[in-house]
Amino acid sequence: MSVITQKIAEVRALVAAARERGLTVGLVPTMGSLHDGHGALMRRAREETGYVVATIFVNPTQFDRPDDFQKYPRRIEIDLAYCGRLGVDMVFAPDAEEMYPSGEATTSVEVSGISSRLEGEFRPGHFRGVATVVAKLFNIIAADRAYFGEKDAQQMAVIQKMVADLNFPITIVPVPTVREPDGLAMSSRNQRLTPQDRRIAPVLYQALCEAERLIRGGSHSVAAITQAAHDILLRNPAIRIEYLNVVNPATFQPEERVTGQVRIAAAVWLGDVRLIDNILVR
Ligand code: PAJ
Repeated sequence: MSVITQKIAEVRALVAAARERGLTVGLVPTMGSLHDGHGALMRRAREETGYVVATIFVNPTQFDRPDDFQKYPRRIEIDLAYCGRLGVDMVFAPDAEEMYPSGEATTSVEVSGISSRLEGEFRPGHFRGVATVVAKLFNIIAADRAYFGEKDAQQMAVIQKMVADLNFPITIVPVPTVREPDGLAMSSRNQRLTPQDRRIAPVLYQALCEAERLIRGGSHSVAAITQAAHDILLRNPAIRIEYLNVVNPATFQPEERVTGQVRIAAAVWLGDVRLIDNILVR
């Protein structure tokens, strides 16, 4: 069983007590509706640190569309049981008033450049909301290590830049994407897919794999690589492509030619569900 708290003061006291006992602290920030992708982060934290804190907070400031915030799945009781099974020591599940009390004047942390590309271009303000809430969580939970999924690689790059620029005394640990047996990256939003769209959804990963195959086969032309991936996606009329780019893994700046390590990142719509995925090609 994990200890559950909604209050910042209580989190601080429990983390301080763990530190006094000589334990290192691992942090896994989430928005809940937990699945085995989140579980991989928790397992890794459990292996590497002595006191594991998970946070569950559907952060309103990072949603660019009100309907996405409203429809975001919430199931706190199931999540708490899941955290308990994975050996999480404490779950911090604050309400919005605890995280954003009225009267705040320092309203945002902005990581410029990277935050405006790809995801940032299609979800204005998204990474400002993410960076701000993660900065607050890092200050609330004095963790040694924080665990983030490569599923949201651009988010991880934004956080890594913020940690470097603002000198947060924390190590960011990337965890590989956990997939369903058919290749679909696990995501809380997958449960909102219709059964028919769920059958189509793995094509996103298939398109990324085809792009990777071309690069490994020696193709340097980003135009040819992205065209091949588009062709695979567009065989399904139900899919609407928002972006599919070959980018620099650190800056997320689109590349024109493949000369070194790249990340292939894409966002597509299936019905009213938006799916993202990416792979790193070394
Ligand atoms: P959420 O979407 O709940 O994801 C929490 C963490 O789990 C993120 O680091 C995400 O990359 C990771 N994750 C999600 N699906 C994964 C998968 N299939 N494999 C591996 N890791 C996966 O990301 C957020 O919440 C929020 O933006 C947050 C960082 C909590 C700030 O509000």
